[in-house]
Amino acid sequence: MKKIAALMLLVVPFLGFSQPKTIDQKVNSLLKEMTLQEKIGQLNQYSGENWATGPIVIKPNLQSDIQKGLVGSMLNILGTKYTRQYQDLAMQSRLKIPLLFGQDVIHGYKTTFPIPLAEAASWDLEAIALSARIAATEASASGIHWTFAPMVDISRDPRWGRVMEGAGEDTYLGSKIAYARVKGFQGNLGDVNSVMACVKHFAAYGAAIGGRDYNAVDMSETTLWEIYLPPFKAALDAGAATFMNAFNILNGIPATGNKYLQRDILKGKWDFKGFVVSDWGSIGEMATHGYSNDTKESALAAITAGSDMDMESSAYRNHLEELVKEKKVSVELIDDAVKRILRKKFEMGLFDDPYRFCNTERELAALNNPEHRKIARDIASKSIVLLKNEKNILPISKKTKTIAFIGPLVKEHKQNMGSWAVELPGMNYTEQVVSQWQGVQNKMSPGTKLVYAKGCEIEGDNKDGFADAIALANQSDIVILSVGELWNSSGEAKSKSNIHLPGVQEDLIKAIQATGKPVVVLINAGRPLIFNWTSENVPTILYTWWLGSEAGNAIADVLFGDYNPSGKLPMTFPRNEGQIPIYYNHFNTGRPAHNEPVTNYASGYTDIKNSPVYAFGHGLSYTTFSYSDLKISDNEMKTNQEIKVTVNVTNTGKVSGEEVVQLYLRDNVASVVRPVKELKDFQKIKLNIGETKTVTFIIDNQKLSFYNQKLDYLSEPGNFELMVGSSSGDIRCKDTFELLK
Ligand code: NOJ
Repeated sequence: MKKIAALMLLVVPFLGFSQPKTIDQKVNSLLKEMTLQEKIGQLNQYSGENWATGPIVIKPNLQSDIQKGLVGSMLNILGTKYTRQYQDLAMQSRLKIPLLFGQDVIHGYKTTFPIPLAEAASWDLEAIALSARIAATEASASGIHWTFAPMVDISRDPRWGRVMEGAGEDTYLGSKIAYARVKGFQGNLGDVNSVMACVKHFAAYGAAIGGRDYNAVDMSETTLWEIYLPPFKAALDAGAATFMNAFNILNGIPATGNKYLQRDILKGKWDFKGFVVSDWGSIGEMATHGYSNDTKESALAAITAGSDMDMESSAYRNHLEELVKEKKVSVELIDDAVKRILRKKFEMGLFDDPYRFCNTERELAALNNPEHRKIARDIASKSIVLLKNEKNILPISKKTKTIAFIGPLVKEHKQNMGSWAVELPGMNYTEQVVSQWQGVQNKMSPGTKLVYAKGCEIEGDNKDGFADAIALANQSDIVILSVGELWNSSGEAKSKSNIHLPGVQEDLIKAIQATGKPVVVLINAGRPLIFNWTSENVPTILYTWWLGSEAGNAIADVLFGDYNPSGKLPMTFPRNEGQIPIYYNHFNTGRPAHNEPVTNYASGYTDIKNSPVYAFGHGLSYTTFSYSDLKISDNEMKTNQEIKVTVNVTNTGKVSGEEVVQLYLRDNVASVVRPVKELKDFQKIKLNIGETKTVTFIIDNQKLSFYNQKLDYLSEPGNFELMVGSSSGDIRCKDTFELLK
């Protein structure tokens, strides 16, 4: 057989047939035809004129640049009507190289899903992948080839406005979610309903000092490798087509001009074959950082470091040709970047048909698919976290006579979308987003009465509405109180030094609680907020984040028990801003605090406890779960072996429910000190009333490994503590095992 195949290869060309060219061959042939200017054009990305997701500093001659082949990609062009118009311009260029359209499709396109931090609270990887899949289906139908997502930056600082866009503080959970999101967006990359993912922001952007956006990052190599890089690697392992670098400096070097990150790690050690796009203007900003004298030097630093495409700096467009002529940049370097980009355009089928993603009928159908709304409702319910339910006030009986729904967020539509929702031209939010009021109203049976008072605004100090709200509460059997922060208080450039529940909302909660009526507080936000009085005094609190198009229905499903809440916090909730950064996988120190606030030479604060209000992984259900019979298959393990951990979890309550069973490990003694506990596995299981399931975890050497001082990734022999629980602060059973030499 082999001989025949070899013979065919030799004779086929003489028979007049030619072998189909591989993508690499096509790229190489095209490259040979390209002038240097056209090559540089492929590295240039402009934003559309109608909508900006960054400060506009360049005013390019868009149309003629595209016609001259000086633009490779665009962002912020929404809809087939417009992408077609721009693609038409590219088709007028000499080589007719199609444009690539990128967009921040962060949590849905027209159907808006919960913000990523909320989705992370579902700990449901299938649901998260499905939400990305639907976002891809809608965006691709609307002319988009490429989403600037997922953001996989770990962050331990809720002051940072961009925590809403990531998966929270934990590396293990974050890595799993990064993988799921890439798989969801990309599906079978090359199919017309898939988009390329762009993993961002490479790297360590989430560790901005003081939680101030764009601020410097300074961290040890072990922390970088241990905490911040793994989600990027997981996204790469899922096949991510592209990466975006970051605004921040990392240990003194801007990420955009950082050769260590982009060439040594990403394209070197990790062998990434896709391309890297800069962040918005981040090439130009290297001069502002003080890393280069001007945009030309910035262009040199960026291309040398491995940044392939320039988003909105025009640094490559204006300076690369000159840099090549001056022999500061080699043509090979440019060719490598161009090839990476062209390869993706071929893989996306754009050379076969540049208008592949421009089918208006498909767009109409995809953007109005009722199935998408159903799925959005499902994941929105799964994202809600029940923080407290002390008197079992929830779920509310549908037969309750009078329900007062109070608060500034009750009748809002757009607020529920949260930051980074795609603003489609002409979007009617009243139609598109189910308000909380509508959701609750849908549950009302005849004979029940739903009444409303706003009480106050989200921000500001006006209490004029309190009296009406109190009067209404007094006439009702139960009060639902919906408070939070403004939708655009989180997101890019939305860092805050004060993350307390804003305005007079907590005063409103106090006033309503004082009526003695049962109160349920809903907190809507894009980050962990601080609301200590509420936590201490109100028995029932649901954290509802920003849940998107189906927010109202999802919240109502949980309020009335049609969905039993199963979300778990992906971030620690601090007591005050002074505790930040705060995270569960901290170190023990030589003087851990046993009594808090500390009194005697211990590591803590003298005015507040070290512990958070709500721990990472916390979240209650309308039922209860007991944990028992923790067993380890062997209390001794060799590095080439695995051990099996089993634990029985029983639903001990009166309704069926889901539990996220969390496995934490501690390496007691190591050459580099290890955290007090680290999440190493979890399973979300569903249990009927009285049902017991045995959950099995496998511990292998990788789960025990870490980066030592030489950055070797390895495990060290010794004792490990194993903890299984319902949250990082609610460990239900423990055991130990030994890793043998
Ligand atoms: C800046 C943001 O940091 C990045 O995440 C986003 O993709 C770009 N702007 C484009 O909007």
